[in-house]
Amino acid sequence: MPVLDKFVIEGGRKLKGEVRVGGAKNAALPILAATILCNGKSTIRGVPALRDVDTMCQILGILGIRVERNNDAITCEAEDEKKNTAPYELVNTMRASVCVLGPLLAKRGSARVSHPGGCTIGVRPIDLHLKGLQSLGAKIDIRHGYIEASANRLKGADIYLGGPYGSSVTGTENIMMASVLAEGETVIQDAACEPEVQDLARFLNKCGAKIEGIGSKILTIKGVKELHGTDYHIIPDRIEAGTYLVASVLSGGTITVRNARARHLGALLHKFEEMGIEVESGRDWCRVAPPKRIKPVDVVTQPYPGFPTDLQAQIMALLCFAEGISVITEKIYPDRFMHVAELTRMGANLRKEGPSVIVQGVKKLYGAPVQASDLRAGAGLILAGLVAKGTTELLRVYHIDRGYERIEDKLNSLGAKIERVAEEYPKRPIEEM
Ligand code: EPU
Repeated sequence: MPVLDKFVIEGGRKLKGEVRVGGAKNAALPILAATILCNGKSTIRGVPALRDVDTMCQILGILGIRVERNNDAITCEAEDEKKNTAPYELVNTMRASVCVLGPLLAKRGSARVSHPGGCTIGVRPIDLHLKGLQSLGAKIDIRHGYIEASANRLKGADIYLGGPYGSSVTGTENIMMASVLAEGETVIQDAACEPEVQDLARFLNKCGAKIEGIGSKILTIKGVKELHGTDYHIIPDRIEAGTYLVASVLSGGTITVRNARARHLGALLHKFEEMGIEVESGRDWCRVAPPKRIKPVDVVTQPYPGFPTDLQAQIMALLCFAEGISVITEKIYPDRFMHVAELTRMGANLRKEGPSVIVQGVKKLYGAPVQASDLRAGAGLILAGLVAKGTTELLRVYHIDRGYERIEDKLNSLGAKIERVAEEYPKRPIEEM
């Protein structure tokens, strides 16, 4: 019988101490995919132990890459370059699998990647990825649920990558990875400039690529004939860091978050200050002081350096306790609000109006059975459970395991009480699974 984990969280404990953030999931995934482009071995260091990383390693294995893991270092080397298919069974479990499309096409001349489709946070089209690759000369068909792409040698082009919700993170990454081996120069306009996109560009340059404008909205890429392998350490996970900082404020304690770059967390730290929360930071750490009261604020998610959509559920959990009304608006994924109903079950006063949620602060939340609909919604619910009165049972923890390394161990080491319990299915009704 299948077994799924749940978290049983006892609320109301003050958290204190130090926690160390791991490497960025959303940097690790495209960088691992980028090793397809390299001749010879690449070792990626600081890679977190996550379900999504395991999925990417499995996909690379299927694509003929030998993958070896040694603690937080993953070494990749191509062994069979004839393979080109990323199958439905894996792509279906992780949208970031689409990151193998650009590298396969550039290095092997063809790619067959299952179309990632939508997910619980929205429709999530990939039209910008496909448009960019077509501009580089790829022929693309969608057949039987697969993207089939081919090209002899890609040719550099001027590509505008802005979409209705701004720039695309993995779209920029795919086009960047495809164009490093293209003939001539590629200019990507309205490129995403998230730290994870910058990290990928730095990795590629270390492998011999010629990418300029890193961190800006215009990237210029001069194609080279080949890339070599390298040794690269990825950046810390800013979303994991932000999640622990919000936990610190919510619990009323003080957590020092290590391996956190304040520079990558500007929008969140600025919001903390607006809420009346004191922020301290050094070269690789951040800390927030426990506030006497939390002032309500408005939050709008936007592409970097705007407020990250990946911290929207967590900030909502915090604003549930603000003294007054806050408005949270999603400008990246207007439907990424599955946690609203769950927080409401815990006693939050929330009203969804189009792509916004109006949050009326309350004095208390109460533990309840709730479920994680996606990774970040799950993180928001853990945070709510940590301060709720009584016990919260959080189902579908597998979503959280995709992107947070040992979150219960890390929070428990700070004084939380979270137990991971394996639950057999179908003990609960099927529709809850
Ligand atoms: N979009 C299009 N067309 C496209 C691509 C995107 O219209 O071809 C739209 C999307 O629907 C969305 C917006 O553009 O409205 C931005 O999406 P983006 O492409 O930037 O998202 P992504 O690359 O699929 C990455 C992260 C997400 C994160 C978003 C936004 C990775 C592996 N994933 O997704 O991370 O939420 O950027 O910052 O980097 C997570 O870690 O929990 C997560 C979902």
